[in-house]
Amino acid sequence: MTQTAYLGHPRYLDELERELGAVIARHGRLLLAPGPPRAAAWAQNVWLDTRHARIASIGEGARLLRALQRNWVAYAPVLGGRVRLLAGALPYVAARPVRFPEPAPAAPLGSFTLLSREDLLYSARGSSPFPHGEARFVEDHRAPPNRAYLKLWEAFTWLKEHPRAGETCVDLGSAPGGWTWALATLGARVISVDKAPLAPEVAALPGVEFLRQSAFAIHPDSVGSVAWLVCDVACYPARLLGLLERWLAAGTVERIVATVKLQGAGDPDALRALGGIPGARIRHLWHNRHELTWAWRA
Ligand SMILES: C[S@@+](CC[C@H](N)C(=O)[O-])C[C@H]1O[C@@H](n2cnc3c(N)ncnc32)[C@H](O)[C@@H]1O
Repeated sequence: MTQTAYLGHPRYLDELERELGAVIARHGRLLLAPGPPRAAAWAQNVWLDTRHARIASIGEGARLLRALQRNWVAYAPVLGGRVRLLAGALPYVAARPVRFPEPAPAAPLGSFTLLSREDLLYSARGSSPFPHGEARFVEDHRAPPNRAYLKLWEAFTWLKEHPRAGETCVDLGSAPGGWTWALATLGARVISVDKAPLAPEVAALPGVEFLRQSAFAIHPDSVGSVAWLVCDVACYPARLLGLLERWLAAGTVERIVATVKLQGAGDPDALRALGGIPGARIRHLWHNRHELTWAWRA
């Protein structure tokens, strides 16, 4: 029977389990579900070609994995010593943090674990280019006013595109300014909107225009053509849906990245509606909290 392994975020495993429905087994934060891979917004890494093998020795496991490809990362919620031995018999994988805006590594990255001493579970391909879907960047600890920029860097890395110098971006719910900083440092022109103030050093960046008002009061026609609309407004999903539908209806935006903030069980109707918009993708990023990132492209 085909099975697929989905690696969840340590804090949001219940969300992943609910999303997958029938789960055959849980191995740490790796959930095994029946059938071929399917879309799972809460998975950090989907093991796209999940297989089992009986191995009599570490050497046999290493030969099997090495024959498939070079790069493997070990997941070891149990049997840590034995998994480390197996990892040690495989080529070294540097997995250095990405220096944004350089792209994520393109080489295939496999994952493996031991379910028992002899039961090797592995996949030569994963949905994420990062080990266990943990998107690591060379961080800037000085310039940005908070760490929210990592969420936007991760979204752009996932989408494999980002704003270019001179493009117009609208940042809704922008204070204190992590996202606006990320956009401005790419050379974009940023219309940054929040009811709360922007950090002064971000407001002073070249290309930043700050509008202190409600994100819901801006009419798309007043802005003109927008290459990227990004939105991190703290609001219920249904309210976000209404806001995004207004911008989509205006037809002036090329791409959107928006955070969908969730409370309790979320708002299944609004989430379904957001996911059903043609051109939309939705997933939990490594840097997301209890929220999902929704992306759309015309
Ligand atoms: C998570 S914070 C945004 C962080 C921001 N992306 C950053 O990188 O610094 C959410 C923001 O939504 C703003 N917000 C909430 N309701 C709003 C509204 N109606 N209009 C504009 N901003 C709003 C809050 O003031 C808050 O600054």
